[in-house]
Amino acid sequence: MMKKLSPNEVHDQVRRRYGEIAYSIKDRFKYPAGREGLLKLGYDLTAAQVIHEGIVESFCGVGNPFSLGPVRPEDTVLDVGCGGGFDVVMASHFTGPEGRVYGIDLVPAMVEKAKRNIMSMELSNCEIRVAGSEAIPFDDNTFDVVISNGAIYLSPLKEKSLNEVCRVLKPGGCFQFADVVLNDDIPEKVAACFDGWAG
Ligand SMILES: C[S@@+](CC[C@H](N)C(=O)[O-])C[C@H]1O[C@@H](n2cnc3c(N)ncnc32)[C@H](O)[C@@H]1O
Repeated sequence: MMKKLSPNEVHDQVRRRYGEIAYSIKDRFKYPAGREGLLKLGYDLTAAQVIHEGIVESFCGVGNPFSLGPVRPEDTVLDVGCGGGFDVVMASHFTGPEGRVYGIDLVPAMVEKAKRNIMSMELSNCEIRVAGSEAIPFDDNTFDVVISNGAIYLSPLKEKSLNEVCRVLKPGGCFQFADVVLNDDIPEKVAACFDGWAG
């Protein structure tokens, strides 16, 4: 029987891979990223047109969380696995300056990139922190909307992550997420290596 990756091993591999992607995204994904991805996923690029090109190009989500429900003016929003921060900036466009948008990501280099991106847009209602989806560093009942785009599938502890999302959502709040799912079981030896496991 092949040894499964432990949660710590998965986190280490995510830090390694996404630490590199934070510096260069080129040719790293099998699906369209950057502007091409946003177009294919039906993002409202009129809303996005003021977003700097470097932020657009850092996008590597797998879907469009804003197509699943609204983010309203003055909402408090969390993006789990925010990467370079494109969806944080989009969410801030919808909440307006009276709302607040937080992003968390496991990978320090991604967090630094998202912070730089947000500073370049001069957004004072956004904040990014280093944290995993398995231990979200916010109080219970904090958020109107939690979004996530292509991150929960990378967590080795998905149930814990989803419980954390439910904990930080206000009663009646919404979790709008896009992710990768398996339709069939994969061979044990593929699941036992990070590249296979993370697709
Ligand atoms: C495919 S990228 C998507 C990034 C961003 N959501 C976007 O749409 O551009 C996945 C992101 O999830 C982060 N990530 C992976 N596992 C995570 C975890 N357990 N907790 C928080 N972030 C995680 C990665 O560092 C990476 O930035």
